[in-house]
Amino acid sequence: MEKLDLKAPNFTSENIEKIADLFPNCVTEKRSERGEVERSIDFDTLRQELSASIVEGSQERYSLNWPGKREALVTANSPISKTLRPCYEESVDFDNTKNIFIEGDNLDALKLLQETYLSKIKMIYIDPPYNTGNDFVYNDNFTADREEYDEASGQRDEEGGRLVANPDSNGRFHSDWLSMIYPRLKLARNLLREDGIVFISIDDNEYTNTKKICDEIFGEDRFVGTAAWKNKYGAGAKTKGFIDVHEYILCYSKSSIENISSKLSDEQTKSYNKKDDKFDLRGGYFTQPLMTTSMDDRPNLQYDIEYKGEVIKPIKQWVWGKERLLNAIESNEVVFSKKTDGSYSVRYKVYLIGENGDKRKGKPMSLLNGPFNQEGTKEVEQLIGPAIFSFPKPSALIAHFLSFDVNDKSEKDGLYLDFFAGSGTTAHAVMKLNADDGGQRKCISIQLSEECDPKTVAFKKGYKNIAEISKERIRRAGKKVKEDNAGKEGIENLDTGFRVFKIDSTNMVDVHVSPDDASPELFDTHIENIKKDRTSEDLLFQVLLDWGVDLSLPIIREEIAGKEVFSVDDNALVACFDEGINEEFVTQLAIRKPLRVVFRDDGFGSGKDGDSVKINVEQVFKLKSPATDIKVI
Ligand SMILES: C[S@@+](CC[C@H](N)C(=O)[O-])C[C@H]1O[C@@H](n2cnc3c(N)ncnc32)[C@H](O)[C@@H]1O
Repeated sequence: MEKLDLKAPNFTSENIEKIADLFPNCVTEKRSERGEVERSIDFDTLRQELSASIVEGSQERYSLNWPGKREALVTANSPISKTLRPCYEESVDFDNTKNIFIEGDNLDALKLLQETYLSKIKMIYIDPPYNTGNDFVYNDNFTADREEYDEASGQRDEEGGRLVANPDSNGRFHSDWLSMIYPRLKLARNLLREDGIVFISIDDNEYTNTKKICDEIFGEDRFVGTAAWKNKYGAGAKTKGFIDVHEYILCYSKSSIENISSKLSDEQTKSYNKKDDKFDLRGGYFTQPLMTTSMDDRPNLQYDIEYKGEVIKPIKQWVWGKERLLNAIESNEVVFSKKTDGSYSVRYKVYLIGENGDKRKGKPMSLLNGPFNQEGTKEVEQLIGPAIFSFPKPSALIAHFLSFDVNDKSEKDGLYLDFFAGSGTTAHAVMKLNADDGGQRKCISIQLSEECDPKTVAFKKGYKNIAEISKERIRRAGKKVKEDNAGKEGIENLDTGFRVFKIDSTNMVDVHVSPDDASPELFDTHIENIKKDRTSEDLLFQVLLDWGVDLSLPIIREEIAGKEVFSVDDNALVACFDEGINEEFVTQLAIRKPLRVVFRDDGFGSGKDGDSVKINVEQVFKLKSPATDIKVI
């Protein structure tokens, strides 16, 4: 019987748990006044979480620290005035696809997605630069002008460059990398669903730091596992120490999860190789011993059984109770074999598809023998040509992880994210998984427009930057997946499209006038608050982002009373950014009873006339569709 706990609850530790749920990075270990090390709150970090400027503090505590960590936290939390602009020409099947490709710095992208995709992503896979001493790291606080910058490195993205080389001679080698990855992982965690998980590829250069930083960001108890992946065959890279033929994939969950399972590897499946009847629907089986000597003494497991008139005693005890064992014998799931000394080996059969569920799914192994890098290279070579992209991951590797079931939920849909997309392998893997099982998984890929060096094959083949490579790979991969599955039922419905968005400055003009400069006339003048080069589609997607509406929803563009009107997902949102909005036009929108409606602030006209139209428009909605949420930009 459960005993009532008559002690008063420990509110402090309960409160620490509450804070830990919101900000796992603020939980640390500290020496208490009694001299014991205990779980406590790192108030400096909590203060930092709640402040837009850098907070000082220097108490001794258990944590991973590096110069620039607080700045990195400020970077994660600071707002940006940027937006996503749709690019129809580079998209594939823009109108119908649910996949998204974002071109730009992933720090900006992750911030822009916070509203819309908060707690919506099922799985994230990332393969960040490994900090090998030869790669480039995005410097979020880079303020040097172009000349200074060119002297310092020589690599840039298309907006003028903040990508800096991070050679291991740099005194801030690990710090710079940590400052790059920290805010990104923090923002990414927010996007995960409660049962969401993240996979991070990394090698020995930053494995320990990545593990520590994830323990901090996700919480140590959210560590699901590390897979050591043998990533190449052949001689492997020669390092000072061991021959390097592996790297790691770390997995963390957002909240605590019960169980994780994956498809068995071919090697694992092969072990179910015994069959009594080739038509047995349970597949093959292997056997496990039923006698054990390693467990503590349990009298209820120490009993005799009878087999073919002989009495069999366990050496010490059985692993099951008597009833369970007798039932298993009855249903022919126990194998007896007489040994040369006359004693019996008694084992039970473990079927591939057993009574306790589909054993073709099992706990993922922490050791993976392939698929190999060479396969990834071949895959990309076959699609876009040789030497265009170095070290793409094999799509089968990513598909293996993305097909994990969390808490025994076998889902074939949901949102997947890769914010270091590279050649677009994750998007390819998602399409392949969908083609295999008819699933509806959707993928968001984010890739910087990192310029290709003019000396590279990629540049010579016409790829100006890596995002161009990713998009072309995904386009061709989509076609190939459909070709490879030609004839399969429903393959024509496979979503191989993607909507391309590019990160750009906000669509809004910065119209800040200090109170001293404000003249009465200013309020009467018509101030254009939207940049001249922005289209109504640009405005529409900024509104979707700000309002947290899914960017992949279907959009219909129509003309009503000579004005351009966008309807997003039927009535989820209706937008008109034209000028000359009046009551007559608005009445036509209001009778559709949209959930949300948006206009341009200056769409009603300027000055007092504009104001009175605005009031009338509000009245029209109040009367005809009171539930509609009205906004202006
Ligand atoms: C190791 S590669 C990923 C390879 C990918 N998994 C594949 O299979 O092709 C890392 C990628 O991240 C991109 N990257 C680096 N910093 C970035 C940033 N701040 N935002 C977006 N992408 C970035 C690099 O351009 C590079 O293509």
